[in-house]
Order: sequence, then C-alpha cells, then structure tokens
Amino acid sequence: MTAELHSRRTVLTTGAAVAGAAVGAVALTACGSDSTPPGSTAAAPGETLTALSDIAVGQAKATKTADGKDVIVTRTAEGTAAAFSAICTHQGCAVVPEGAELKCPCHNSIFDAATGAVKKGPADQPLPSIAVKVTNGQVVTA
Ligand code: FES
Repeated sequence: MTAELHSRRTVLTTGAAVAGAAVGAVALTACGSDSTPPGSTAAAPGETLTALSDIAVGQAKATKTADGKDVIVTRTAEGTAAAFSAICTHQGCAVVPEGAELKCPCHNSIFDAATGAVKKGPADQPLPSIAVKVTNGQVVTA
C-alpha cells in the first residue's frame, strides 16, 4: 500500500512538472512570435513594388516588399494593378505566377491572379490582398 501511494505521488508530481514545462514552452513561444499574422504583407504605404510596364496585361509578377515579404503584383488592365501576399494560405509556401493564375508548388493549389481567389485547393482561403495604386507607371502600395 505504501509503495502504491508512493508510486501514485511520483506520477502526480511528474505530471505536474510536465504540465509546468508545457506551460513554459507555450509562454516562450508566445513571447518569441511577433504579432504579424502569417501571410501578412503590411507594406508601408507609398512603397514601389514594380513598374507596371514590367507586367503584361492579365499577367502577374512575383516580387518582394522592401522588408523582404513575397508579394504578387498582377496587371489587371492596361493601367491598373492588384497585389497579394505570395504566401499560400494552405501551409505557407510561396506561390508562383503562371499566366493568369498563381500556382503553389507545394500541394498544387491554384489562385486567380486578378483576385487572389482559390481556383483549386487544398487551400481554402484567398491570398490576402494588398492595396495598391498606379502612380507614374509604378505600382505603389496605398
Ligand atoms: S502550401 Fe500551398 S497548397 Fe499547400
């Protein structure tokens, strides 16, 4: 009986220690992450992403923001553009422009280059859009 109590106490103590370690790990993770959501492309307003003339009408181009975030810029018409995070909403790979579509090389999701909408999964959320305007032939964050 004593051995059984001792054993039970050991299990409870060990369990509490493991639980404490898990809480500590969660706290460290929370402290170590920044507050930017995955795929966020909060580019500063007024940042030039590319020249509009570098993209054919209806096509898209992969580029980066000044702070290194992957973005897609699509020339939606002669004088207009749209931009999106290039980070796939499935598991975070960078999508690649292919004609009027954006393809994810990891699990083959396909997005509409003009809208960022999902055309084929497994991704089930659109690419986050980035507000842009065309100023003096440059695609600039708005
Ligand atoms: S990460 Fe893009 S489809 Fe899985």
